[in-house]
Amino acid sequence: MKPYAIVTGGAGGIGKAISGRLVDDGFDVLIADLAREAAEAVATELGEGCAAIEIDVSSPISIARAFEEVIGERSAPAVLVNNAGWDLTMPFVESDLEFRQKVLAVNLSGAIECSWHASRAMLEAESGTIINVASDAGRVGSTGEVVYSGAKGGVIAFTKALAREVAPAVRVNCVCPGPTDTPLLGAIAEENPALVRALERAIPLRRIGAPADVAGVVSFLCSDDAAYMTGQTISVSGGLTMA
Ligand SMILES: NC(=O)c1ccc[n+]([C@@H]2O[C@H](COP(=O)([O-])OP(=O)(O)OC[C@H]3O[C@@H](n4cnc5c(N)ncnc54)[C@H](O)[C@@H]3O)[C@@H](O)[C@H]2O)c1
Repeated sequence: MKPYAIVTGGAGGIGKAISGRLVDDGFDVLIADLAREAAEAVATELGEGCAAIEIDVSSPISIARAFEEVIGERSAPAVLVNNAGWDLTMPFVESDLEFRQKVLAVNLSGAIECSWHASRAMLEAESGTIINVASDAGRVGSTGEVVYSGAKGGVIAFTKALAREVAPAVRVNCVCPGPTDTPLLGAIAEENPALVRALERAIPLRRIGAPADVAGVVSFLCSDDAAYMTGQTISVSGGLTMA
């Protein structure tokens, strides 16, 4: 049996690119997503050995159910990519409690709970790697994304602390995409097309990122070439931020 990877949010823009890249790298990939039909379509596209798992990362119960079933059947994953994320841009003072709690639950608690299940199994297997997909918003802050920035900053700090605890058997690293061409950015661009044009001008490499740009760095961090890296945060943002 091939080593396998779990990619949360694997049916979406960046998660789908990461999943495809990990298949190319020799992993079976489980697409763990809220959008069941989209996850099944991606798993079918990726081919034999890949499968969809329905999961809501904002629910610890849903996460426990999914991880216990998968780990019970297959033993420890070689890779967990905590990629699922969600946000809407709005002024902090205009947000409501339900929205703020959802942003924290999907973007921060989800990564923590999935990592809890995966790291216990990885420690028992004495190997594994966890990649957290945060955001440059978590490094430098982003107007209109105040709670999201806090959640992603939490993911970055969580990466470092977990990396210390689970070393040397398990490596934990973090990737921070900048603006990347996915449905998440599309929703923001629809509301504010001028913002995307302004970003393109401000990015030193003069383009919005592609999901493949992020997937390549995730692939590297999962590989033996990154065997001496843990607790690190890497921005993939065309130089927009140099934190
Ligand atoms: N696109 C960008 O510009 C950008 C920038 C910085 C960081 N990011 C981060 O990259 C990651 C991927 O973003 P994307 O742009 O591909 O987003 P996307 O919206 O295109 O895809 C996100 C995927 O996550 C899934 N998802 C959402 N809520 C979920 C939940 N509760 N449980 C399980 N799955 C859920 C969605 O169904 C979707 O398949 C996110 O963590 C996001 O915060 C994106």
